[in-house]
This record gives sequence, C-alpha cells and structure tokens, in this order.
Amino acid sequence: MDLLRFETILLLLSVGGGSAQDALPHGPLYVELGQNVTFKTQADLEKSFITIVWSKHSDEEGLQPIISLAGATVNVPEAYEGRVWLNRTNGRLKMGPTTAADDGEYSVSMVDDKAVTQTGERELRVLVPVSSVLIASSPLEALETNSTVVLNCSALGSFLDFSWTNGTTPLLGDGKRTSISNGEQWSSVTIREVNRWELRGPIGCSATNKLEKTMNSAPFNMSVHYGPEAVKMTSLPAVAAGGFVGRGSNMTLSCSAASAPPAALSWLHNGKALPGKTGPTLVLSDLGLTQGGTYKCSAHNAKTLRTVDAPAVSFTVMEAISGAQVTGPAAGQLAGRGRGGQPDVRRGGRRGCPVGVA
Ligand SMILES: *[C@@H]1O[C@H](CO)[C@@H](O)[C@H](O)[C@H]1NC(C)=O
Ligand SMILES: *[C@@H]1O[C@H](CO)[C@@H](O)[C@H](O)[C@H]1NC(C)=O
Ligand SMILES: *[C@@H]1O[C@H](CO)[C@@H](O)[C@H](O)[C@H]1NC(C)=O
Ligand SMILES: *[C@@H]1O[C@H](CO)[C@@H](O)[C@H](O)[C@H]1NC(C)=O
Ligand SMILES: *[C@@H]1O[C@H](CO)[C@@H](O)[C@H](O)[C@H]1NC(C)=O
Ligand SMILES: *[C@@H]1O[C@H](CO)[C@@H](O)[C@H](O)[C@H]1NC(C)=O
Ligand SMILES: *[C@@H]1O[C@H](CO)[C@@H](O)[C@H](O)[C@H]1NC(C)=O
Repeated sequence: MDLLRFETILLLLSVGGGSAQDALPHGPLYVELGQNVTFKTQADLEKSFITIVWSKHSDEEGLQPIISLAGATVNVPEAYEGRVWLNRTNGRLKMGPTTAADDGEYSVSMVDDKAVTQTGERELRVLVPVSSVLIASSPLEALETNSTVVLNCSALGSFLDFSWTNGTTPLLGDGKRTSISNGEQWSSVTIREVNRWELRGPIGCSATNKLEKTMNSAPFNMSVHYGPEAVKMTSLPAVAAGGFVGRGSNMTLSCSAASAPPAALSWLHNGKALPGKTGPTLVLSDLGLTQGGTYKCSAHNAKTLRTVDAPAVSFTVMEAISGAQVTGPAAGQLAGRGRGGQPDVRRGGRRGCPVGVA
C-alpha cells in the first residue's frame, strides 16, 4: 500500500471532524543509537481512541505497521515484538532499543470516539553517539611565515556541529588568513603564513550532536619553527671592538639566539670553525698571543635551515697586564702601574702601541 492510498483511507475514516495533519510535532526527532525513543502526540490527554495505527514508511515496502490498536486489541507485527509500547490514552509510541534501521519516516493515525481522525508524520533520526574527536595537523611541522597549516578535527557520530577554541576563547576564522570549513564529520581550520604564536594554544575542538551531547578533543598545540633571530654575543669581561686583552687572561664569550627549535651554536675564530666548541659559551682561558682575532658565534636552526651569525667580537692579545683590558693612551703612562696600583715592572705593550689600564 503506498502512502497516498493509506492516507486516502484515513481521510475516508474521518467523519464529521475533518482531518488534522498535526497529531505529531514538527521537525525531526533525534535519539541515540541503542536508546529508547518516545514519539509524543499532540492529543489531548484522556481521550478514548478507537483506533491508533503507527507505521513506518520505507521506500521498498511503503507503510509498514508497527503497532495498531482497535478497541481493546493491540497488534504488533513480529518485527517489532517486544520493542514497541503504545499509550492508548494519548497515542504515544515508545520504541527501543533503537537500531540504525529505525531511522526513517513515521506516521500515526488516531481515531477517537467521536470519529475524529488525527494524523501526523515525523522523521526519526537515530544518531551514532559522538566519539573519537581528534585534531590532526598537516603538515606535522611548520615554518613561520612559509607554511600553511591545516588542523582537521574529525569525529565519529551523526549530525555533528563543530566548534574550535584557542585557550579559552572561541577560534573563529577571519576569512582571510584563518578560515574554517566544515564537513559532516570534520571541521578544519586553515592558517596561512602561520606565525610562532598561533598554535601555542591549547587549541581544542568539540563536536556536538543534535541531542546536545558534546565531546572534546585532547588539547592540541604545535611549535612553529622560526629563527634564528636576534643572535647576540657578549664577552666577559667586556671588550671594546678591536680592543686589547692581556696575555694569560681569561675570557668567556656567550651567545644567544631566538629560535625554535633552539639553535645549534658553534664558534668561529678568524673565520675557522673551532672544532668541538659548541653551545652557548666559549671559555678562553690563559689567552695566548695567537688567540687574538675575530670571534664569531654562528646559530643554526635545523628545521628552518637558516644560519645566522652574531656580530663578531674582535680583540688583540698582548703581552700586558694580565686580566686587564688595555685600550688607553701611551705605553709610557703605563710603566710602574700594575694591579692594585702597586709598582710593577713589566714589559709593557708592543712598541708604539697605545696602551693603558681600562
Ligand atoms: C527501554 O524501555 C524498556 C521498557 O520500558 C525498558 O525495559 C528498558 O530498560 C529501556 N531501555 C533503555 C536503554 O532505557
Ligand atoms: C500514558 O500517558 C499518560 C500521560 O503521560 C500517563 O499518565 C499514563 O501513565 C500513560 N499510560 C501508560 C500505560 O503508560
Ligand atoms: C621561506 O620563505 C622565504 C620568503 O618567501 C624564503 O626566502 C625562504 O627560503 C623560505 N624558507 C624555507 C625554509 O622554505
Ligand atoms: C578531515 O579528516 C576527515 C577524516 O579523516 C576527512 O574525511 C576530511 O577530508 C579531512 N578534511 C580536510 C579538510 O582535510
Ligand atoms: C591563539 O591565541 C593566542 C594568544 O591570544 C594568539 O596569539 C594566537 O594568534 C591565537 N591563535 C589563533 C590561531 O588564532
Ligand atoms: C604543548 O602543551 C604541552 C602540555 O601542556 C606543553 O608541555 C608543551 O610545552 C606545549 N608545546 C608547545 C609548543 O607549546
Ligand atoms: C683563568 O681561569 C683559570 C681556571 O679557570 C684560573 O685558574 C685562573 O686564575 C684564571 N686567570 C685569571 C687571570 O683570572
């Protein structure tokens, strides 16, 4: 029997009262898979129904009865035995536990003792519960300004709405550099020319179904590679550019760089790499005359593949007052003055070289 003929028969049954197509509320009814569902009717309470017929529409077989009541007799087809309950005073149908096959169009027709027929149709949507909400990023690693990062949040479940958060604030695309697109079971955020701060997060994604059940992803964050930048080198004791340093003195050079991941720091002396000298400090102790010259620190980021050198520090090591930095006037003025102002006999600076105690 097709839907049209079935309704025609129902119409013919309605005598005197006219048929109302609103025995059921409008809009789909949602239920989670495995749960019970109740189709509420808009019938007045405590009516006496002579007949109530609940049916499900299927494309292959037309309307299939689920449960019908005629007078005191209730008839349940085998397929629905033990799964449906009817409330004869208001026509409500309870059904469950629901299976995926229960998804579909339902209809009811009820005739009361005044021979007034009420009919209604309603869609039932059986939802797969929300689960497995996961954020995946592509690519897995990103370079600042060069990369477009796509975060894809996927989930299992039916009729999902996704939302994103960045820390505690909603993450909404600006439609320019950051845009959001949605599929049925995923939502993705695309960030072009990503910067180092953007994905520190924690970024979260949540999927909510029509029954307002929500599941959140694990917090996500990602380090965007950048640098090296601001590569700086300092010496202790401080030495002016091209200054003089006494033979036998000690010097510690320190190097720093802003970089993610942290930069590998290496050292160069007069343009040549100092073998085995890596890390943020270079300790030069008991400086010999050949150790003067130009020192450089070189910072390399293995992810951005950029290498940046710090401005060089250069100095001359000279036979002078140990531990003192020598910069000043004529050598003659130095004679007789040593550490602590004590008289001191030393060989002084190189001939003609202006020296003094700094
Ligand atoms: C569904 O309803 C039946 C009958 O009232 C009940 O026995 C069963 O426990 C209910 N199942 C769930 C999942 O609520
Ligand atoms: C039918 O529904 C009414 C109103 O919700 C309720 O009071 C009554 O107990 C129900 N009857 C049965 C048999 O469940
Ligand atoms: C990143 O982009 C800049 C400017 O477009 C380019 O010079 C640089 O080579 C790129 N770096 C990498 C690692 O692709
Ligand atoms: C996100 O992931 C889902 C599931 O893996 C996939 O079907 C979808 O195409 C992805 N979306 C984007 C924009 O990559
Ligand atoms: C997330 O929040 C941080 C801090 O407010 C911000 O710097 C960053 O740009 C935000 N990320 C995105 C993708 O909007
Ligand atoms: C990501 O979050 C973890 C846990 O909160 C934290 O330890 C880690 O430093 C974060 N990584 C980045 C790149 O912010
Ligand atoms: C240089 O350092 C060494 C050991 O690190 C120390 O023994 C020496 O006294 C220092 N020399 C000067 C001039 O401070």
